[in-house]
Amino acid sequence: MRTVNVGIIGLGTVGGGVARLILSHHDDYVASYGIDLAIVRACALEPEAARACGIADEAFTTDWHDVVCDPSVDVVVELIGGEHPATEIYEAAFAAGKHVVTANKALLGRHVEQFASKARENGVQLKCEASCGGGIPIVSTLERDLVGNKILTIAGILNGTTNYILSRMEAEGADYADVLADAQAKGYAEADPSADVDGFDAASKTAILASIGFGTRVTTDDVFQQGIRTIAAEDIAQARELGYTVKLLGIARNTPAGVDARVHPTLIPIDHQLAKVAGAMNAVYVVGDAVGETMFYGAGAGSFPTASAVVGDILTLADPISKGAEPLPEPEPFKQNLPVRPMDELETKYYVRLKVADRVGALAEVVGVFAKNDISISLINQVEDAASDGDACSVIFLTHKAVEKNMQAAAAELAGASCVSEVANVLRIEDVSAWTEGVFEN
Ligand code: HSE
Repeated sequence: MRTVNVGIIGLGTVGGGVARLILSHHDDYVASYGIDLAIVRACALEPEAARACGIADEAFTTDWHDVVCDPSVDVVVELIGGEHPATEIYEAAFAAGKHVVTANKALLGRHVEQFASKARENGVQLKCEASCGGGIPIVSTLERDLVGNKILTIAGILNGTTNYILSRMEAEGADYADVLADAQAKGYAEADPSADVDGFDAASKTAILASIGFGTRVTTDDVFQQGIRTIAAEDIAQARELGYTVKLLGIARNTPAGVDARVHPTLIPIDHQLAKVAGAMNAVYVVGDAVGETMFYGAGAGSFPTASAVVGDILTLADPISKGAEPLPEPEPFKQNLPVRPMDELETKYYVRLKVADRVGALAEVVGVFAKNDISISLINQVEDAASDGDACSVIFLTHKAVEKNMQAAAAELAGASCVSEVANVLRIEDVSAWTEGVFEN
């Protein structure tokens, strides 16, 4: 057995957890797997960050080059996030023949193919279990355990911050702004919440999972993205009354018309497994044509849950290294290049909330706009509540399946209609029964 040398770049919440986990379980890994892990280099801004984790002073550096250029390092663990210098770290590590483990979803969401190819060219691996769903073992599940399937659907609650906000809005009937402010005060949401609430984080994760699950190139730019800022307490209450809950989902579907990849607030039936995922927890629902429905639930963030995923990747690489062999090079990234279906072509049902003038003919005018855009209404509900102000009242419309392009055209037309004072929200209602289309019959 030879010692496997690890170099960690970044000792924040995740990096600190990784160091603590490796150091506290060192003897267990030796006893259980015959793997002796040593943290030989650790890069952070301050030496206290390393000392707090129990890392020896001589391993500490403030310069990432010291980690990547150390000939004894077998595995480089990048946990600083962001595009730079993470990109340079990968390039230098691959060129030096070192494997890379990362949780960097923003970078991989855009460039997973490019980095996987670079790793392959250099005979090493790039592993990213922690990039999606924190501690949930979903990347390796898609890469390995479900490979006998054609993966049909991946639908995930991939962002804990937004699920926490939506769950509290639903439980308390509270407004978005109040819950966000409280979440920020308690440290559950970032001071600048954009990456979470505008859907960037979930879009990166959706791109990575779709790429791996479907074996094709899907980048963050291919993922339609809409966040939760416009969701009002009234929408959540109305959805609930109609039998739905509102979740920010990352949805990727492998359809005959191409890959459908999107992140947006979605109405799903309250009895669906994903509807029951509350608070900051994450869940990934995966349908394979053989396995059918599966769901993976767990902490999507946090020091030790994310460290669990990172250390799992390190041990996977360390297993052959400790026995004197090299892990196989990164496999060829994608053998397919499936088309990505434009969002305009999506066909789904919609929930529309309008503020409409309370006068004769107003509803007829609105229905006329829907009809003109080939959108058929399945339900109209005029809401008698405090939100109704003066001459305007809130009206909820549910539609039959319609085409996204038509709905956007109708929404734009309604926004300019004299009888409509506000198009308060247009939300998609997911047809969850379509998620299992293509599963083999037993
Ligand atoms: N900011 C993310 C979330 C965690 O709220 O889920 C890290 O991906």
